[in-house]
Amino acid sequence: MKSRIVNGFSKLNKEEKLNKLVNLFDDSQEAKEEFKSFWHSDEKKQQLFDEFSENTLSNFYLPYSVAPNFVINHKIYHIPMVIEESSVIAAASKAAKFWSDKGGFRASVISTTKVGQVHFSWQGDIRKLQVEMPQLKEIFLKRTDSITKNMRERGGGISDIELIDKSLEMDNYYQILVKFETVDSMGANFINSCLEEIAAQLKFYISDKQEWIETERKCTIIMSILSNYTPECIVETHVETKIKNFANIDTSLSANEFAYKFEKAVDITKFDVYRATTHNKGVFNGIDAVILATGNDFRAVEACGHAYAAKNGGYKGLTDVTIKGDKFSYRLKIPLSIGTVGGLTTLHPLAKRSLEMLGNPNAEELMLIAASAGLANNFSAVKSLITMGIQVGHMKMHLWNILNQFGANDQEKQMAVEHYKDHKVSHNSVRQFLSSLRIRSAT
Ligand code: MEV
Repeated sequence: MKSRIVNGFSKLNKEEKLNKLVNLFDDSQEAKEEFKSFWHSDEKKQQLFDEFSENTLSNFYLPYSVAPNFVINHKIYHIPMVIEESSVIAAASKAAKFWSDKGGFRASVISTTKVGQVHFSWQGDIRKLQVEMPQLKEIFLKRTDSITKNMRERGGGISDIELIDKSLEMDNYYQILVKFETVDSMGANFINSCLEEIAAQLKFYISDKQEWIETERKCTIIMSILSNYTPECIVETHVETKIKNFANIDTSLSANEFAYKFEKAVDITKFDVYRATTHNKGVFNGIDAVILATGNDFRAVEACGHAYAAKNGGYKGLTDVTIKGDKFSYRLKIPLSIGTVGGLTTLHPLAKRSLEMLGNPNAEELMLIAASAGLANNFSAVKSLITMGIQVGHMKMHLWNILNQFGANDQEKQMAVEHYKDHKVSHNSVRQFLSSLRIRSAT
């Protein structure tokens, strides 16, 4: 059926919204029931979810899994991960196990600075504004005093304010660049509130400068917003082992061959954007799953990570291999602006449980955990790619999805799992396997 403009949609209740949309489906009534079947039976819980967003119709389930036995800085974590891709948890768990008796992941937070910008246009000699900056900074700090009070009490707040001349890039365009420490919160609302106040103060200060000519007393605020690019909010994690410890990692490669082939695979990501993007996607398989499980903003983390991967002009892989003598080390350095208080982290009941499962880490500890999950996933992916290839493991994990697509019952699933222990999984072969089972049981 053709879509039509619906007026006043947001004012309808959930049932009415569904009624407005069910005509889009061939099986209207079944579709409506399907959406409703994912409503939570506890009305209070459902209301919480409805209120996270606008125009909520239902809940969209994703598997909530755990990758156990991560050793990070000598502490054991069982890491909650929310992701739909079947092989990610297996990959993370395998890498966690492999590295657990080799010293585990060693991670550290390098910096935690967040950034925001007031973008504005102004016509005049920039030196005039530069002269005013010390006074302006004082005003900005004073006028944001009530917004920053709690954050300052927790050890954060505004750490720097700078006037940036961008007039070479765009006529009359300048920025007030503000740096923040947001302690355990991601800090988006806090930063944006400060920036909007700073923008209002800037506009007022300039318009009140009686000794300036009329054009100089006009400043247009273009926008005030945090930047998701946080190259000074960095975490680093690495694993290290003697090359000889790769001896049994694969039947076709010796320990030395494995280490040097791995290094080559990573080196390729330093000049080939096609490979670098996929390589980094493997890193984000782990990171995003932790970010989602803990109620953080995966779009912010992804946007920042990819911008950081291109920080020197070309897009590169985010990990680095070092082989020195008989030692192999593998490292991920990445910006991660995340929090453990505020936003959904404490509102979403399962995000709250995830944090509890991790021992209620502060934001810095969560950065170590998420980065290590990212390195673990990427390590497993590259390991598979340079040995048996990705499809064997991938399709084994995907087997359940294929069986479900073909409507396999429990007994058929059990037999399929047994059969595919030593057979190659493919869509076609599962189809054939099931149809021969079904023919046999029908006769
Ligand atoms: C699949 O989700 C991720 C990989 O493609 C990553 C990689 O190629 O490194 C396996």
